[in-house]
Amino acid sequence: MADLRREIERRRTFAIISHPDAGKTTLTEKLLLYGGAIALAGTVKGKKNSRHAVSDWMEIEKQRGISVTSSVMQFEYDGYCINILDTPGHQDFSEDTYRTLMAADSAVMVIDASKGVENQTRKLFKVCVMRHIPIFTFINKMDREARNPFDLMEEIEKELGIQTYPMNWPIGCGREFKGVYDREKKEILSFTANGGSKAVEKVELSLEDERLEQLIGSQYRQTLVDDIELLDGASYEFDMDAVQRGQLSPVFFGSALTNFGVEPFLEEFLRMTTPPLPRVAGEQEIDPFSDVFSAFVFKIQANMNKAHRDRIAFLRICSGRFEKGMEVYHVQGGKKIKLSQPQQMMAQEREIIDEAYAGDVIGVFDPGIFSIGDTLCSPGQKFQFAGIPTFAPEHFCRVTQVDTLKRKQFIKGTTQIAQEGAIQIFQEPGKGMEEVIVGVVGTLQFEVLEYRLKNEYNVEIRMEGLPYQYIRWIETPEVDPKKLNLTSDTKVVQDFKGNLLLLFANTWNINWALEKNKGLQLGEFGRS
Ligand code: G4P
Repeated sequence: MADLRREIERRRTFAIISHPDAGKTTLTEKLLLYGGAIALAGTVKGKKNSRHAVSDWMEIEKQRGISVTSSVMQFEYDGYCINILDTPGHQDFSEDTYRTLMAADSAVMVIDASKGVENQTRKLFKVCVMRHIPIFTFINKMDREARNPFDLMEEIEKELGIQTYPMNWPIGCGREFKGVYDREKKEILSFTANGGSKAVEKVELSLEDERLEQLIGSQYRQTLVDDIELLDGASYEFDMDAVQRGQLSPVFFGSALTNFGVEPFLEEFLRMTTPPLPRVAGEQEIDPFSDVFSAFVFKIQANMNKAHRDRIAFLRICSGRFEKGMEVYHVQGGKKIKLSQPQQMMAQEREIIDEAYAGDVIGVFDPGIFSIGDTLCSPGQKFQFAGIPTFAPEHFCRVTQVDTLKRKQFIKGTTQIAQEGAIQIFQEPGKGMEEVIVGVVGTLQFEVLEYRLKNEYNVEIRMEGLPYQYIRWIETPEVDPKKLNLTSDTKVVQDFKGNLLLLFANTWNINWALEKNKGLQLGEFGRS
């Protein structure tokens, strides 16, 4: 099985996270350019405005010019097979982004050098920390006015609670951006605006070299010498174990748009990341190199082609090899199934694939049997990967159907859409299914829900916004919700697995609940 081992060893699977506009798309595009996966920069970006998805259910995507669904992009570089898990760029679609992080082995955090840590990054970062995956930081847009790099480091450390290790250090910024100093190689990578082409001028100069002054000027030289001295003396030591445990983030400065610092970043990133690591399934750890195939569903995308009403389930392969048409055991469904039409997604295009390996992501046709978090494995095996947590929605609506005769379709539609994980549905204890409380991570999902119920299930709905912003799962066993001491504007609901939850309008109310009910435990992530 040397082949299997070799294939898996060269896999690197990661997600890029950022706040919208920090440069995630631009960086992704430049990485693909190095891999030769796209010939022309602008192709990925182009999907936002010119190349529309074939999927017609996503009219909204077209109308808004945003990318609603995420996919994976695979490319080869220097013998590696790299999977970039693309995450929806729009801030409204972060729940899918959260789930994508469950499929990634590491994350690249793109930060806008003039803005620092932003809201969306903060949220996504929490998920990375929960998973202890390595996090690499790319501080982008150095060709523009940027904040002081020491302040940026401090902010990352303070706000995100992770140690940082700058791999390189910027010299100036904006119009005065001279390049970066590589701390390990001890050489300068000088910046010349080159319109984003692949080749970047590299000048091998040490800090002591007299020519340095000519290159960057005496003032920048002095600042650089001082900065490096300070860094060497005061910053954290580089510790590969800490990187791999997600406690220390290697930081790179660069400019994705001008393609500066992207290739060195990619090379270091590949050097520091590992092939797929074992994943926990109950009591067992599943070795990725095992010849037992295993995978879990991390995302379901509905009706990409409305004519066929198909759903695509996205699987992250955790061990072994996948072959087209192979028979697998669907653990949650308790059935053997044949995986037909396996697909790999490159941006919006689907390509039928013959085989895939641990680390890869594939989309398979789903006749409506999969749920997020389900395990698939070689027949004869029965283990289950730990489920994907449910992430706390932040916006809530009471949803009722306009035409009460459409009750069945309403229930079917809301339940199916919830099953795909696009929305979460809750009920007030004692109330029927004609009325549900829908929670979403981003408000655009309400529109998606309305659109899809109308177009796919022929149901019109009424939505009434609710003033809640926070949801917490009650983790204390056997709590009688009626006996809890809560503020009058806190609501008790249950999800469809019967778990009890509390909806809060503000954090003050959460604190009240915790203070007035000793022993009450509240969780931010639900169990699937
Ligand atoms: P996102 O996916 O994180 O949302 O960000 P995206 O890459 O779309 O970048 C957001 C904007 O920032 C884009 O400009 C992009 O060109 C710009 N940008 C990205 N990286 C850099 C960089 O290193 N330097 C500079 N100066 N700009 C950068 P836009 O005007 O919104 O779009 P476009 O008109 O360029 O397409």
